[in-house]
Amino acid sequence: MKSVEEYFVPWVKGIPMYVSGHIDLAWKQPELHRMMSNENPNPPSKKVLEAIEKYAKIANRYPDQGFKVREKIAEINGLPGIENVMLGNGSSEVFDNIFRCLLEPGDEVIQHTPCFGIYKLRCNILGGKLVSVPMIYKDKQLLFDADAIIKAITPKTKIIVIANPNNPTGNFIDKKDFIKVAETGVPLISDEAYIEFAGLSKSNVDLVKKYKNVIITRTLSKCYGLAGLRFGYALGDKDVIAQISAALIPWNVGTISMWAALTAFEDTQALQERADFNNQQIEYYEQELKDIKGLDIYHSYGNYILFDGTDAGKTGKDALDFALKRGYIMRAQSPMYGRDGWFRITIGSADENKMAVKIIRDFFAQ
Ligand SMILES: Cc1ncc(COP(=O)(O)O)c(C=O)c1O
Repeated sequence: MKSVEEYFVPWVKGIPMYVSGHIDLAWKQPELHRMMSNENPNPPSKKVLEAIEKYAKIANRYPDQGFKVREKIAEINGLPGIENVMLGNGSSEVFDNIFRCLLEPGDEVIQHTPCFGIYKLRCNILGGKLVSVPMIYKDKQLLFDADAIIKAITPKTKIIVIANPNNPTGNFIDKKDFIKVAETGVPLISDEAYIEFAGLSKSNVDLVKKYKNVIITRTLSKCYGLAGLRFGYALGDKDVIAQISAALIPWNVGTISMWAALTAFEDTQALQERADFNNQQIEYYEQELKDIKGLDIYHSYGNYILFDGTDAGKTGKDALDFALKRGYIMRAQSPMYGRDGWFRITIGSADENKMAVKIIRDFFAQ
């Protein structure tokens, strides 16, 4: 008799469950300040809370396929209609859906590093091969490298994913470079998780009308501040959306989430306030920390900032340990480009940011 292990497909064998240690720690110790997962420090708006309560009362009912909210999303993005919009339980599920429709074991996914970890996770579980193309490190900047991405394409490449703006580097790819990659015809995802902080005018969504291979992904976890609700979506050509929607798990987005999401889209003032607050706080960090010798600050269009303290002789790991001792969870960034001083922080509340500035200043003063 075969052992049960032998029944598993070879490419999932031994892959552990994804565990977000820092998030688990923050829930276990709620007194810690969560400056590590690019959450929004502001709670949901009053209108969103009312929608949550209203639909919680009919949680005995199954949701529909999200007609109203998809219509709203299409309208906001200048697309014809619901046929251009697919909903997901967070954008993480949207990636999973797209990847399942495009990847066979052995197929390749190109990502531009450093970047968000979900692409790797979804690729691995499907037996795909992850191809990481590094950004260019030059003059203390991290730059997108469209030519290197294009060079990495092989007959097995099924997906290219570029976060715009990128996490953790915080910058946007030039539109002309994005178009250069789109022109290869390979399915190209523009991960726009943070786009609302800079505004939708920076989006690549206009390109889905011209390039059928371009898919936009979005989430309500960041600027809208609804990470715990789990709501994301994909935008694309109607044929592409129809095909990837075939892999949807029925009722993947719950009634409460989709109606809360609709309210959040309608509550444009709450969104603007969150974007404005965040962008002011980014400036605040830059102003308060710019005189620290040897600390490189990467300007961010998201709700996080990447720092590099290598030239001050500091390591990112020591920065994290120092902050944690003071009750602040910041985020590690592994050594890259021969430098080990990287760390990232998420914008917190005004008080948290003041304290984080103090912690960083104290750390570099020792
Ligand atoms: C670049 C990027 N994309 C997507 C996500 C995932 O967001 P969610 O699954 O909450 O929609 C994140 C979360 O940190 C991210 O940084």
